[in-house]
Amino acid sequence: MTSTSSREVVLGVTGSIAAYKACEIASLLVKRGVRVTPVLTESAQELVGAASFEGITGNPAITGMFAPDTNREIEHIAVATRADLFLVAPATANILAKAAHGIADDWLSTTLLATRAPILFAPAMNTNMYGHPAVQGNIGALRGRGCHFIGPDSGVLACKTVGVGRMAEPAVVVHAAMGLLTSRTQDLAGKSVLITSGANHEPIDPVRFIGNRSSGKMGHAIALEALERGARVVVVTGPAEVDPPAGCEIVRVQTAIEMCDAVLERAPQADIVIGAAAVADYRAGNPLSQKRKRDGEGLTLALVENPDIIARVGAAKTNGQIVVGFAAETHDLLQNAAAKLRKKNLDLIVANEVNTPESGFGTETVKAAFLDSSGRIDEQPLLAKRALAAALFDRILAIGK
Ligand code: CTP
Repeated sequence: MTSTSSREVVLGVTGSIAAYKACEIASLLVKRGVRVTPVLTESAQELVGAASFEGITGNPAITGMFAPDTNREIEHIAVATRADLFLVAPATANILAKAAHGIADDWLSTTLLATRAPILFAPAMNTNMYGHPAVQGNIGALRGRGCHFIGPDSGVLACKTVGVGRMAEPAVVVHAAMGLLTSRTQDLAGKSVLITSGANHEPIDPVRFIGNRSSGKMGHAIALEALERGARVVVVTGPAEVDPPAGCEIVRVQTAIEMCDAVLERAPQADIVIGAAAVADYRAGNPLSQKRKRDGEGLTLALVENPDIIARVGAAKTNGQIVVGFAAETHDLLQNAAAKLRKKNLDLIVANEVNTPESGFGTETVKAAFLDSSGRIDEQPLLAKRALAAALFDRILAIGK
């Protein structure tokens, strides 16, 4: 790991209730030997005191464009030039909008325009605000320009609602910041990655469907990793607990056939195709157009097989394209995965156990092995899904060499 003792992070704190958590972020960065320059917007100063940040970091906090003690107008260019990373935590909808549109009306927004250092935002806001197309559009635009994002998480928010919008935990924010400080490479820049994610809902009648337990978390982690490494990312997602991250193109589908059509249309343009969806293998042969009434007779469903999406992509593989599948197995993991790799003409398969409490549908962690077409097997330790996604792209890029 690169030494961080000479690294400087500008910590921009904006006016969200989560502002108090920025003290812990500052403290964790300092403990890792990072020099922290705190910047508090006017609204942040309504919530937290500059003195706390000065005490934690040992550096004066920047609180305005024209503070009396120094010439901040010039200072902002100096800081913008020497900073190794700008971390805005918490990042409100307002600072995201200003950064996305180039508005420079205070020290932080002005300096965000002046810097060429990487920028990491840790958004925190009400769920409805976060989901608003204006905010999502701004996040997409910023990602498109290479800005990085961590979180937000789901949970109980300050406004007492439950949903997405809570700032990522300070330790997680600092982990992401350290990754960028230790010069994370943009090794997927210029690459296009197509990912399938989530489950499928196969209708039985207008109110009932056949589904499965896929949460979409693995697809989300893969998409986020690809975005952070500079790729253009398209996610074709079925219903899932978690949405793909902002910044990727999202194509929403319900059934396996819809997913198949969406994937086959886009696969020829992709450098890397990853099948992380738990595609429904079967659908009801004759879905009813009206709700089926109970008649005391029971119900027998005739199911027909769905297309194998990743196998179709594998069969039509273009030159240099890398096609990756998952093998969700409860038994004979490696044998089953190796058979799927061959049958579907994949370059790599992620064999993952789905029947343990820490590895499976909806879990945060996963135990997996990578198998490639030359027979090589790379066993992975139990990893967070995001860490597995990182290891997966390392492995994919090694194939391409
Ligand atoms: N897959 C797919 N289309 C399908 C079924 C699976 O694209 N109709 C993909 C999955 O996204 C995954 C891989 O194929 O990348 C393996 O999925 P899995 O469910 O483990 O295997 P199946 O081929 O469905 O085999 P089985 O259910 O018999 O184990």
